[in-house]
Amino acid sequence: MNINWYPGHMKKTMDNIKASLKLVDIVAEIVDLRIPISSKNPMLNDILKDKKRIILLNKSDMANDVRNKQWKDYYEKKGYGVVVIDALHAKGFDKIYPVAKGLLKEKFEKLKEKNISSKTIRMMIVGIPNVGKSTFINTISKRKSLETGDRPGVTKSVKWIKTKNDLEFLDTPGVLWPKFEDENVALNLAFSGAIKDEIMDIENLCFKFIEKLNSIDKNILKNRYNLSDECFSDTIFVMEQIAKNRGAILKKNEIDYFKVSKLILDDFRKAKLGKITLETVDDIEGIEDEN
Ligand code: G4P
Repeated sequence: MNINWYPGHMKKTMDNIKASLKLVDIVAEIVDLRIPISSKNPMLNDILKDKKRIILLNKSDMANDVRNKQWKDYYEKKGYGVVVIDALHAKGFDKIYPVAKGLLKEKFEKLKEKNISSKTIRMMIVGIPNVGKSTFINTISKRKSLETGDRPGVTKSVKWIKTKNDLEFLDTPGVLWPKFEDENVALNLAFSGAIKDEIMDIENLCFKFIEKLNSIDKNILKNRYNLSDECFSDTIFVMEQIAKNRGAILKKNEIDYFKVSKLILDDFRKAKLGKITLETVDDIEGIEDEN
């Protein structure tokens, strides 16, 4: 699958992030817990250098609880500050400040030596599209809306979003790009809804999604769509069975593959298939973990 995400904007985006780094104490990368490998940017290491970093594992309400814990442990062992959050429902936010403060111990000790009693932590939020950056900033600051999207050019006057618990965020989250050259990553991003369906062959995507889901647990589809065991011998058969059960049928009784594909993927994206994690910590073994 060939996906060009923000063609030509990559360097500009990284330059923007680099230019704003000096303004913050710490950088928080938001990751989608359903796809923690695919939604993590591989190139942050290059620009962050000695900057303190925290990972906000988001969409915990949509991902498998056992896996959420495994991912938290995994990144903690790698030395990151990690907080599991649900940005939509404002869960886990109270742990962000203490985790960040732990990482910034030296800064606070130095301030104390100088008799400065500031508690404020300035944080930059970064992440690939759709991980929940604007939702997070809106929810934590109780703002109604935050203009989203890729904004080329460095923001002229930097605005800060203050929260009641001594955290301040840059008003523009850094939009990173994913590792879209890797087909597995591109597929996971597409499954999650991070890549617009319009630019993809949705039927092919759904076929691959069913295969992926069945490799995790056949009962997910079976239970949701009331499927018989026999249909699992063949992925197309699974699609057909769901189409029949859900009325995705064209004239002359033909299967509406487009409609059923959209239905299945939408169900996953709205967590109607349950709390599902598509990537496990075992998957990361053997993959070069650049950050
Ligand atoms: P971004 O700025 O990083 O691009 O992401 P954004 O906040 O726009 O969030 C993308 C979608 O993910 C939104 O869905 C948002 O509501 C949802 N979302 C973010 N965090 C969470 C979370 O913790 N839990 C759940 N359940 N959903 C979350 P949307 O408004 O439906 O947008 P879309 O799907 O139409 O793109």
